Amino acid sequence: MSNLSKKRYTITSALPYANGPLHIGHLAGAYIPGDIFVRFLRLNNKDVVYVCGSDEHGAAITIKAKKEGVTPREIIDKYNKQIKESFEDFGISFDIYHRTSEPIHHELSQEFFLNLYEKGEFIEKFSEQYYDEEFQQFLADRYITGTCPHCQSEGAYGDQCEKCGTSLSPTDLINPKSTLSGKTPILKETKHWYLPLDKYQPWLEEWLIEGKKAELKSNVFGQCQSWLKSGLQPRSMTRDLDWGVDVPLKEAEGKKLYVWLDAPIGYISATKQWALDQGKNWEDYWKKQHNPEDDSSLIHFIGKDNIVFHCIIFPAILHAHGDYILPDNVPANEFLNLEGDKLSTSRNHAVWLHEYLEEFPGKQDELRYVLTSILPETSDSEFTWKDFQARVNNELVAILGNFVNRVMVLSHKYFEGKVLKGSDYNTIDTAVFDELAKYPALIEQSISNYRFREALSHFMNAARLGNKYLADEEPWKVIKTDEERVKTVLNVATQIVANLAILAQPFLPKTAGRLFDMLQVPVQGWEKAGTANLITEGHVLGEAQLLFDKITDEQVEFQLEKLAAAKANNVKAATQVAPAKANISFDDFMKLDIRVGTILEAEKVAKTKKLLKLKIDTGIDQRTVVSGIAEFFAPEDIIGRQVSILVNLEPREIKGIQSQGMILMAEDADGRLDFVNPQTAITNGSVVR
Ligand code: 2FM
Ligand code: ZN
Repeated sequence: MSNLSKKRYTITSALPYANGPLHIGHLAGAYIPGDIFVRFLRLNNKDVVYVCGSDEHGAAITIKAKKEGVTPREIIDKYNKQIKESFEDFGISFDIYHRTSEPIHHELSQEFFLNLYEKGEFIEKFSEQYYDEEFQQFLADRYITGTCPHCQSEGAYGDQCEKCGTSLSPTDLINPKSTLSGKTPILKETKHWYLPLDKYQPWLEEWLIEGKKAELKSNVFGQCQSWLKSGLQPRSMTRDLDWGVDVPLKEAEGKKLYVWLDAPIGYISATKQWALDQGKNWEDYWKKQHNPEDDSSLIHFIGKDNIVFHCIIFPAILHAHGDYILPDNVPANEFLNLEGDKLSTSRNHAVWLHEYLEEFPGKQDELRYVLTSILPETSDSEFTWKDFQARVNNELVAILGNFVNRVMVLSHKYFEGKVLKGSDYNTIDTAVFDELAKYPALIEQSISNYRFREALSHFMNAARLGNKYLADEEPWKVIKTDEERVKTVLNVATQIVANLAILAQPFLPKTAGRLFDMLQVPVQGWEKAGTANLITEGHVLGEAQLLFDKITDEQVEFQLEKLAAAKANNVKAATQVAPAKANISFDDFMKLDIRVGTILEAEKVAKTKKLLKLKIDTGIDQRTVVSGIAEFFAPEDIIGRQVSILVNLEPREIKGIQSQGMILMAEDADGRLDFVNPQTAITNGSVVR
């Protein structure tokens, strides 16, 4: 098997953050390539484990929870379930889909940390870190945004600029702002444990740059090289956060492990859980073996924004630990764009997998096919609905589907579904078999070099070969004069269909299953591909079914309108401002008695979605106010906040509660609410005017 010469493989696809649903960009980045590769290994009887799971720590989760006004636990439970279902729906064949919130993962991450700690690998450093005074919280990574010092784009995070991919420290940002309060944070001292990446630089240069030059994809190699060129810096492996894996040290109480320390260890803990479930030994897949030749081959499938973590930081951690194997390769993909624009969750510019399946039920393989055809393997690529339609209609329907359907229908029409021998093969038949025999090796060559687009095009060429053979031999004409020749032609064509069933397996698992089912033959491994006698004489084929149908213009238009509506919504949200009201007199304004107050207590009003019952210290008194802010603020998050309150509004009864006043809120065109509050603490009862 070309360069896939190892016996055992440990394959991972990036653990997605459990903070939102999956879209086509996810599939095209790390999951379709990983799945094709793994299916191919399994077809070749390799010992392989394919692991993934939800990344459930880090600011990605807590920021989302804050936005939705729910707990981080609610966020990860909701999205873990949804993401897992999407992967299953699209046939991404993980051996286990785990979660980093599981105790087995917390334990293993802590064990890793302690192992390095006890070896003295960490540098302990007091440093000044950004701190949000209003929220009384240190601002790790994603809690801080600003201008990227490298590409000058706005909105770079404290750990990374997503525009140019550069890894950053919060203090690198120009004009930093807290994402909690929106304010400029102050610097405050805190203690953290740093991994001295600079110390591993010489080793990384040898192992990665010298050792992997020939193997790494050029986009991956280029990024690694530029990282090392700019010189590695120590990186903190702990954070001041309240969500994540506890740092297992007494003196680090209240601190958590850096999410990029624990997440890749998630690959290992997932394997551990899988091994427990399956009665296997997880160490076979992760630890160095007595004889290095027996080491498992570790391969990480990821998107380009994760390259540094998988090529530099995680290998450095594994190296520092010492017992573990290192990745053989990290075939990262670039990004997929959609209809001329970046995919964006916040702008809802995406094709969401769960929505796709509702709108195109049963058409998983169609999306897999199109995405595989356009994988961003060497540079960013583009999904458009017109192209989706063209590839499905002109390739899947017109070539593969058409060929298979003709073979099945004609076999039933002329021979009651029996595969017969007929006259001897002529030179055209043997030439077709010779050609067919080349495809398994071509596909294998492409897959083993992570060129999945090319591999898929070889597969489609094999289908073209069958389609052309049938069109040239015209059995529907020959049947009138030479029935024996038609038996031969349909026999040859059926052998090609059986070959396509085998070859389709890495790419189109559902279709492959349907082909074996139609042919009424058991599923076959790769070793049988390319051979001419997969179906024996006298075998009876199953019913003909249509493999694919056409994507209509209406379906394409519907999708384009949906994207246009999302765009229009964004524009509206950005520009829509309520029209000005008629002028009022100064005296009218002075009738309003607005004060600064502090929220003392907050609780949800039973059986309502939007209402919170608040107890406010207005400086004048303590009173109860019912406020419609529950969709945006969790009660526990707002206690202690200062607000502006209209205190002379006539009391009203809301849901049986006397509400004495009104909290002033700002509301945007989307209905999003935020408090109108003083920027620094001010005495309750202070007048707002
Ligand atoms: O970028 C992301 O979505 C991360 N959650 C990927 C983690 S990959 C691995 F290291 F766990
Ligand atoms: Zn940048």
